[in-house]
Amino acid sequence: MDRLKEIEEPLLRWYEENRRPLPWRMRRDPYEIWISEIMCQQTRVEVVEGYFARFLEALPTIEALADCPEERLMKLWEGLGYYNRARNMQTAARQVMELYQGELPADFEALKGLKGIGDYTAGAIAAIAYGIPVPAVDGNVLRVISRVTESREDIAKQSVRRRVEQELLAVMPKDRPGDYDQALMELGALVCLPGAQAKCGQCPLKGCCLAAAHGTADQLPVKSRPKSRKVEARTVLVIQDGEHVAIRRRASRGLLAGLYELPNVEGHLGRQETLDLVREMDLEPLRIRPLGEAKHIFSHVEWRMLGYQIRVQQLEGTRQGDLIFAGREDVRERYAIPSAFDAYAGQIKGGGEDRSGS
Ligand code: ADE
Ligand code: SF4
Repeated sequence: MDRLKEIEEPLLRWYEENRRPLPWRMRRDPYEIWISEIMCQQTRVEVVEGYFARFLEALPTIEALADCPEERLMKLWEGLGYYNRARNMQTAARQVMELYQGELPADFEALKGLKGIGDYTAGAIAAIAYGIPVPAVDGNVLRVISRVTESREDIAKQSVRRRVEQELLAVMPKDRPGDYDQALMELGALVCLPGAQAKCGQCPLKGCCLAAAHGTADQLPVKSRPKSRKVEARTVLVIQDGEHVAIRRRASRGLLAGLYELPNVEGHLGRQETLDLVREMDLEPLRIRPLGEAKHIFSHVEWRMLGYQIRVQQLEGTRQGDLIFAGREDVRERYAIPSAFDAYAGQIKGGGEDRSGS
Protein backbone atom coordinates (compact mmCIF):
# COMPACT_ATOMS: atom_id res chain seq x y z
CA MET A 1 0.00 0.00 0.00
CA ASP A 2 1.50 3.32 -1.11
CA ARG A 3 -0.02 5.29 1.71
CA LEU A 4 1.72 3.11 4.24
CA LYS A 5 5.05 3.49 2.51
CA GLU A 6 4.72 7.25 2.86
CA ILE A 7 4.70 7.20 6.64
CA GLU A 8 8.26 5.89 6.96
CA GLU A 9 10.24 9.05 6.50
CA PRO A 10 8.24 11.42 8.75
CA LEU A 11 7.71 8.69 11.31
CA LEU A 12 11.40 7.84 11.71
CA ARG A 13 12.41 11.48 11.80
CA TRP A 14 9.84 12.19 14.49
CA TYR A 15 11.03 9.17 16.48
CA GLU A 16 14.64 10.28 16.44
CA GLU A 17 13.63 13.56 18.03
CA ASN A 18 10.87 12.45 20.35
CA ARG A 19 11.60 8.99 21.63
CA ARG A 20 11.54 8.61 25.38
CA PRO A 21 14.83 7.59 26.98
CA LEU A 22 13.42 4.32 28.30
CA PRO A 23 15.93 2.19 30.22
CA TRP A 24 15.71 -0.75 27.81
CA ARG A 25 16.52 1.57 24.93
CA MET A 26 20.01 2.27 26.31
CA ARG A 27 21.36 -1.05 25.10
CA ARG A 28 19.96 -3.52 22.67
CA ASP A 29 20.10 -6.49 24.94
CA PRO A 30 17.69 -9.26 23.91
CA TYR A 31 16.93 -10.30 27.50
CA GLU A 32 16.20 -6.67 28.48
CA ILE A 33 14.00 -6.15 25.45
CA TRP A 34 12.10 -9.31 26.26
CA ILE A 35 11.47 -8.34 29.89
CA SER A 36 10.41 -4.83 28.96
CA GLU A 37 7.99 -6.02 26.30
CA ILE A 38 6.34 -8.54 28.60
CA MET A 39 6.10 -5.98 31.40
CA CYS A 40 4.63 -3.37 29.07
CA GLN A 41 1.75 -5.64 28.13
CA GLN A 42 -1.21 -4.50 30.25
CA THR A 43 0.94 -2.14 32.33
CA ARG A 44 1.81 1.49 31.62
CA VAL A 45 5.36 2.27 30.57
CA GLU A 46 5.91 4.72 33.46
CA VAL A 47 4.97 2.02 35.95
CA VAL A 48 7.17 -0.52 34.20
CA GLU A 49 10.33 1.60 34.43
CA GLY A 50 10.74 1.09 38.18
CA TYR A 51 9.98 -2.60 38.08
CA PHE A 52 12.30 -3.14 35.17
CA ALA A 53 15.39 -1.90 37.02
CA ARG A 54 14.59 -3.87 40.15
CA PHE A 55 13.89 -7.06 38.19
CA LEU A 56 17.10 -6.85 36.21
CA GLU A 57 19.14 -6.22 39.29
CA ALA A 58 17.66 -9.27 40.98
CA LEU A 59 17.73 -11.48 37.89
CA PRO A 60 20.43 -10.13 35.56
CA THR A 61 20.55 -13.13 33.25
CA ILE A 62 18.24 -15.64 31.64
CA GLU A 63 19.92 -18.28 33.75
CA ALA A 64 19.07 -16.39 36.95
CA LEU A 65 15.45 -16.14 35.83
CA ALA A 66 15.33 -19.85 35.02
CA ASP A 67 16.64 -20.70 38.50
CA CYS A 68 14.65 -18.19 40.56
CA PRO A 69 12.44 -19.69 43.30
CA GLU A 70 8.78 -19.13 42.52
CA GLU A 71 8.01 -17.04 45.62
CA ARG A 72 10.83 -14.66 44.88
CA LEU A 73 9.73 -14.31 41.27
CA MET A 74 6.17 -13.54 42.33
CA LYS A 75 7.46 -10.98 44.80
CA LEU A 76 9.48 -9.27 42.07
CA TRP A 77 6.40 -9.18 39.88
CA GLU A 78 4.07 -8.00 42.62
CA GLY A 79 2.10 -4.98 41.47
CA LEU A 80 2.47 -5.65 37.76
CA GLY A 81 -0.51 -8.02 37.73
CA TYR A 82 -1.20 -10.85 35.30
CA TYR A 83 1.22 -13.09 37.16
CA ASN A 84 1.11 -15.78 34.51
CA ARG A 85 3.24 -13.50 32.40
CA ALA A 86 6.04 -13.99 34.93
CA ARG A 87 5.51 -17.71 35.23
CA ASN A 88 5.56 -18.07 31.46
CA MET A 89 8.76 -16.05 31.27
CA GLN A 90 10.39 -18.43 33.67
CA THR A 91 9.24 -21.44 31.66
CA ALA A 92 10.61 -19.77 28.54
CA ALA A 93 13.91 -19.01 30.30
CA ARG A 94 14.25 -22.71 31.09
CA GLN A 95 13.52 -23.53 27.44
CA VAL A 96 16.23 -21.07 26.42
CA MET A 97 18.73 -22.69 28.79
CA GLU A 98 17.93 -26.11 27.47
CA LEU A 99 17.61 -25.43 23.76
CA TYR A 100 19.70 -22.32 23.07
CA GLN A 101 22.55 -22.25 25.62
CA GLY A 102 21.01 -19.33 27.49
CA GLU A 103 20.75 -16.94 24.50
CA LEU A 104 17.43 -15.88 23.04
CA PRO A 105 17.40 -17.12 19.46
CA ALA A 106 17.78 -14.53 16.68
CA ASP A 107 14.91 -16.08 14.78
CA PHE A 108 11.26 -15.02 14.71
CA GLU A 109 9.77 -18.52 14.54
CA ALA A 110 12.12 -19.90 17.20
CA LEU A 111 11.16 -17.02 19.50
CA LYS A 112 7.49 -17.82 18.97
CA GLY A 113 8.18 -21.36 20.12
CA LEU A 114 8.95 -20.04 23.61
CA LYS A 115 6.25 -20.00 26.28
CA GLY A 116 4.36 -16.71 26.47
CA ILE A 117 5.95 -15.25 23.33
CA GLY A 118 3.45 -14.56 20.56
CA ASP A 119 3.64 -12.62 17.32
CA TYR A 120 3.95 -9.25 19.01
CA THR A 121 6.70 -10.11 21.49
CA ALA A 122 8.62 -12.25 19.01
CA GLY A 123 8.43 -9.38 16.52
CA ALA A 124 9.64 -6.83 19.06
CA ILE A 125 12.59 -8.94 20.20
CA ALA A 126 13.56 -9.92 16.67
CA ALA A 127 13.36 -6.38 15.32
CA ILE A 128 14.66 -4.35 18.26
CA ALA A 129 17.37 -6.65 19.58
CA TYR A 130 18.45 -8.41 16.39
CA GLY A 131 17.50 -6.06 13.57
CA ILE A 132 15.35 -8.67 11.83
CA PRO A 133 12.70 -6.98 9.68
CA VAL A 134 9.43 -8.12 11.23
CA PRO A 135 6.57 -5.96 12.53
CA ALA A 136 5.45 -5.81 16.18
CA VAL A 137 1.78 -4.98 16.18
CA ASP A 138 0.18 -4.07 19.49
CA GLY A 139 -2.94 -2.05 20.24
CA ASN A 140 -1.14 1.25 19.72
CA VAL A 141 0.09 0.22 16.30
CA LEU A 142 -3.34 -1.06 15.27
CA ARG A 143 -4.81 2.31 16.19
CA VAL A 144 -2.25 4.28 14.20
CA ILE A 145 -2.55 2.10 11.11
CA SER A 146 -6.37 1.97 11.20
CA ARG A 147 -6.41 5.75 11.26
CA VAL A 148 -3.76 6.37 8.62
CA THR A 149 -5.61 4.05 6.24
CA GLU A 150 -9.04 5.01 7.64
CA SER A 151 -9.93 1.36 7.98
CA ARG A 152 -13.16 0.50 9.74
CA GLU A 153 -12.30 -3.11 10.17
CA ASP A 154 -12.61 -4.60 13.63
CA ILE A 155 -9.16 -4.65 15.25
CA ALA A 156 -10.34 -7.24 17.78
CA LYS A 157 -10.24 -9.76 14.93
CA GLN A 158 -7.15 -11.86 14.57
CA SER A 159 -7.49 -11.70 10.77
CA VAL A 160 -7.29 -7.90 10.80
CA ARG A 161 -4.18 -7.94 12.94
CA ARG A 162 -2.61 -10.46 10.56
CA ARG A 163 -3.29 -8.24 7.60
CA VAL A 164 -1.81 -5.21 9.30
CA GLU A 165 1.29 -7.33 10.02
CA GLN A 166 1.57 -8.33 6.39
CA GLU A 167 1.11 -4.79 5.14
CA LEU A 168 3.74 -3.44 7.51
CA LEU A 169 6.14 -6.23 6.63
CA ALA A 170 5.84 -5.20 2.99
CA VAL A 171 6.67 -1.53 3.59
CA MET A 172 8.99 -1.46 6.62
CA PRO A 173 12.60 -0.39 6.12
CA LYS A 174 14.79 -3.47 6.16
CA ASP A 175 17.69 -1.59 7.68
CA ARG A 176 15.89 -0.08 10.68
CA PRO A 177 13.16 -2.49 11.77
CA GLY A 178 13.63 -1.88 15.49
CA ASP A 179 13.30 1.89 15.15
CA TYR A 180 10.34 1.52 12.82
CA ASP A 181 8.40 -0.79 15.13
CA GLN A 182 9.13 1.32 18.17
CA ALA A 183 8.31 4.54 16.33
CA LEU A 184 4.82 3.25 15.57
CA MET A 185 4.31 2.17 19.19
CA GLU A 186 5.68 5.45 20.44
CA LEU A 187 3.46 7.52 18.15
CA GLY A 188 0.45 5.58 19.41
CA ALA A 189 1.55 6.14 23.01
CA LEU A 190 2.35 9.85 22.74
CA VAL A 191 0.46 11.42 19.82
CA CYS A 192 -2.11 9.18 18.18
CA LEU A 193 -3.97 8.73 21.46
CA PRO A 194 -7.28 6.90 21.78
CA GLY A 195 -10.64 8.53 21.07
CA ALA A 196 -10.85 12.31 20.98
CA GLN A 197 -7.38 12.70 22.50
CA ALA A 198 -5.58 12.19 19.19
CA LYS A 199 -3.18 15.11 18.67
CA CYS A 200 -3.42 15.30 14.87
CA GLY A 201 -2.28 18.93 14.89
CA GLN A 202 1.17 17.95 16.12
CA CYS A 203 1.44 14.59 14.38
CA PRO A 204 4.22 13.91 11.88
CA LEU A 205 1.80 11.80 9.83
CA LYS A 206 -0.97 14.36 9.48
CA GLY A 207 -0.06 14.96 5.82
CA CYS A 208 -0.53 11.31 4.89
CA CYS A 209 -3.30 10.25 7.27
CA LEU A 210 -6.80 9.68 5.91
CA ALA A 211 -8.46 9.93 9.32
CA ALA A 212 -6.85 13.32 9.86
CA ALA A 213 -7.90 14.48 6.40
CA HIS A 214 -11.52 13.50 7.04
CA GLY A 215 -11.69 14.32 10.75
CA THR A 216 -12.54 10.72 11.64
CA ALA A 217 -9.72 9.93 14.05
CA ASP A 218 -12.01 9.95 17.08
CA GLN A 219 -14.17 7.20 15.51
CA LEU A 220 -11.26 4.90 14.85
CA PRO A 221 -10.26 2.21 15.31
CA VAL A 222 -13.37 0.06 15.39
CA LYS A 223 -13.07 -2.52 18.11
CA SER A 224 -15.85 -4.93 19.03
CA ARG A 225 -16.49 -5.18 22.71
CA PRO A 226 -15.13 -8.28 24.40
CA LYS A 227 -17.53 -10.49 26.32
CA SER A 228 -18.59 -8.75 29.50
CA ARG A 229 -16.88 -9.72 32.71
CA LYS A 230 -18.50 -11.66 35.45
CA VAL A 231 -19.03 -9.48 38.50
CA GLU A 232 -18.31 -11.06 41.87
CA ALA A 233 -19.05 -9.65 45.31
CA ARG A 234 -16.39 -10.45 47.93
CA THR A 235 -15.71 -9.52 51.52
CA VAL A 236 -12.06 -9.05 52.42
CA LEU A 237 -10.76 -9.32 55.97
CA VAL A 238 -7.75 -7.56 57.45
CA ILE A 239 -7.40 -9.65 60.59
CA GLN A 240 -4.72 -8.42 62.99
CA ASP A 241 -3.46 -8.61 66.47
CA GLY A 242 -0.80 -6.09 67.48
CA GLU A 243 1.93 -7.55 65.31
CA HIS A 244 0.60 -9.99 62.80
CA VAL A 245 -1.82 -10.07 59.96
CA ALA A 246 -3.61 -13.19 58.77
CA ILE A 247 -2.93 -14.17 55.15
CA ARG A 248 -3.30 -17.37 53.25
CA ARG A 249 -2.06 -18.97 50.09
CA ARG A 250 -4.36 -19.24 47.10
CA ALA A 251 -4.94 -22.49 45.27
CA SER A 252 -2.21 -23.53 42.85
CA ARG A 253 -4.61 -23.30 39.91
CA GLY A 254 -6.96 -20.62 38.66
CA LEU A 255 -7.03 -16.88 39.26
CA LEU A 256 -3.90 -15.54 41.02
CA ALA A 257 -2.69 -19.10 41.47
CA GLY A 258 -0.22 -19.71 44.27
CA LEU A 259 -0.08 -16.11 45.46
CA TYR A 260 -0.91 -14.92 48.96
CA GLU A 261 -4.06 -13.04 49.87
CA LEU A 262 -6.01 -11.47 52.65
CA PRO A 263 -8.72 -13.92 53.72
CA ASN A 264 -11.88 -13.26 51.75
CA VAL A 265 -15.23 -14.84 51.03
CA GLU A 266 -17.87 -14.54 48.39
CA GLY A 267 -20.70 -12.09 49.01
CA HIS A 268 -20.96 -8.83 50.91
CA LEU A 269 -21.17 -9.56 54.61
CA GLY A 270 -22.48 -7.22 57.31
CA ARG A 271 -20.55 -6.54 60.53
CA GLN A 272 -22.27 -9.26 62.54
CA GLU A 273 -21.85 -11.88 59.80
CA THR A 274 -18.21 -10.95 59.52
CA LEU A 275 -17.66 -11.31 63.25
CA ASP A 276 -19.36 -14.71 63.13
CA LEU A 277 -17.11 -15.75 60.30
CA VAL A 278 -14.00 -14.72 62.21
CA ARG A 279 -15.16 -16.77 65.19
CA GLU A 280 -15.68 -19.74 62.89
CA MET A 281 -11.99 -19.42 62.05
CA ASP A 282 -11.30 -20.00 65.75
CA LEU A 283 -10.20 -16.44 66.29
CA GLU A 284 -11.48 -14.06 68.91
CA PRO A 285 -12.52 -10.68 67.52
CA LEU A 286 -12.14 -7.67 69.79
CA ARG A 287 -13.40 -4.98 67.44
CA ILE A 288 -14.28 -4.40 63.84
CA ARG A 289 -14.01 -1.42 61.57
CA PRO A 290 -15.47 -1.19 58.06
CA LEU A 291 -12.91 -0.27 55.39
CA GLY A 292 -15.39 0.54 52.66
CA GLU A 293 -15.70 -0.65 49.11
CA ALA A 294 -13.10 -1.27 46.45
CA LYS A 295 -13.07 -2.85 43.06
CA HIS A 296 -10.55 -4.72 40.99
CA ILE A 297 -10.84 -5.66 37.35
CA PHE A 298 -9.21 -8.84 36.05
CA SER A 299 -9.46 -9.99 32.44
CA HIS A 300 -12.50 -12.19 32.94
CA VAL A 301 -13.92 -11.21 36.28
CA GLU A 302 -14.45 -8.08 38.32
CA TRP A 303 -14.37 -8.10 42.10
CA ARG A 304 -16.60 -5.68 43.99
CA MET A 305 -15.12 -5.84 47.43
CA LEU A 306 -16.18 -4.80 50.88
CA GLY A 307 -13.45 -4.73 53.52
CA TYR A 308 -13.29 -4.97 57.30
CA GLN A 309 -10.43 -4.56 59.67
CA ILE A 310 -10.79 -6.89 62.62
CA ARG A 311 -8.67 -6.67 65.70
CA VAL A 312 -8.35 -10.05 67.36
CA GLN A 313 -6.95 -11.46 70.58
CA GLN A 314 -3.22 -12.18 70.36
CA LEU A 315 -2.62 -14.73 67.60
CA GLU A 316 -0.85 -17.84 68.78
CA GLY A 317 1.80 -19.57 66.72
CA THR A 318 2.30 -18.81 63.06
CA ARG A 319 -0.43 -20.87 61.47
CA GLN A 320 -3.98 -21.95 62.05
CA GLY A 321 -5.85 -24.01 59.47
CA ASP A 322 -4.99 -22.39 56.15
CA LEU A 323 -4.17 -19.06 57.77
CA ILE A 324 -0.63 -17.80 58.13
CA PHE A 325 0.06 -15.16 60.77
CA ALA A 326 2.68 -13.03 59.11
CA GLY A 327 4.62 -10.13 60.53
CA ARG A 328 4.21 -6.82 58.72
CA GLU A 329 7.80 -6.98 57.50
CA ASP A 330 7.16 -10.39 55.98
CA VAL A 331 4.09 -9.15 54.18
CA ARG A 332 6.20 -6.40 52.70
CA GLU A 333 9.24 -8.45 51.86
CA ARG A 334 8.40 -12.05 51.49
CA TYR A 335 4.82 -12.71 50.48
CA ALA A 336 3.48 -11.54 47.16
CA ILE A 337 0.02 -10.13 47.71
CA PRO A 338 -1.57 -9.18 44.40
CA SER A 339 -2.61 -5.60 43.83
CA ALA A 340 -6.27 -6.63 43.80
CA PHE A 341 -5.98 -6.33 47.59
CA ASP A 342 -4.15 -2.99 47.61
CA ALA A 343 -7.09 -1.01 48.94
CA TYR A 344 -7.07 -3.17 52.08
CA ALA A 345 -3.49 -4.37 52.33
CA GLY A 346 -2.59 -0.69 52.72
CA GLN A 347 -4.60 -0.69 55.96
CA ILE A 348 -2.33 -3.15 57.69
CA LYS A 349 -1.44 -1.23 60.81
CA GLY A 350 1.47 -1.23 63.16
CA GLY A 351 1.29 -2.77 66.60
CA GLY A 352 1.34 -0.73 69.80
CA GLU A 353 -0.35 2.46 68.66
CA ASP A 354 -3.41 1.06 67.02
CA ARG A 355 -5.47 4.08 66.13
CA SER A 356 -8.45 2.28 64.69
CA GLY A 357 -10.66 3.74 67.40
CA SER A 358 -13.94 2.18 68.58
N1 ADE B 1 5.32 -0.32 24.60
C1 ADE B 1 5.75 -1.58 24.66
N2 ADE B 1 6.97 -1.72 24.16
C2 ADE B 1 7.33 -0.49 23.74
C3 ADE B 1 8.47 0.02 23.12
N3 ADE B 1 9.49 -0.77 22.82
N4 ADE B 1 8.48 1.32 22.81
C4 ADE B 1 7.42 2.09 23.12
N5 ADE B 1 6.33 1.69 23.73
C5 ADE B 1 6.28 0.40 24.02
FE1 SF4 C 1 -3.21 9.57 14.46
FE2 SF4 C 1 -4.03 12.03 13.86
FE3 SF4 C 1 -1.51 11.28 13.45
FE4 SF4 C 1 -3.43 10.34 11.92
S1 SF4 C 1 -2.78 12.44 12.09
S2 SF4 C 1 -1.78 9.18 12.82
S3 SF4 C 1 -5.09 10.14 13.41
S4 SF4 C 1 -2.57 11.48 15.42
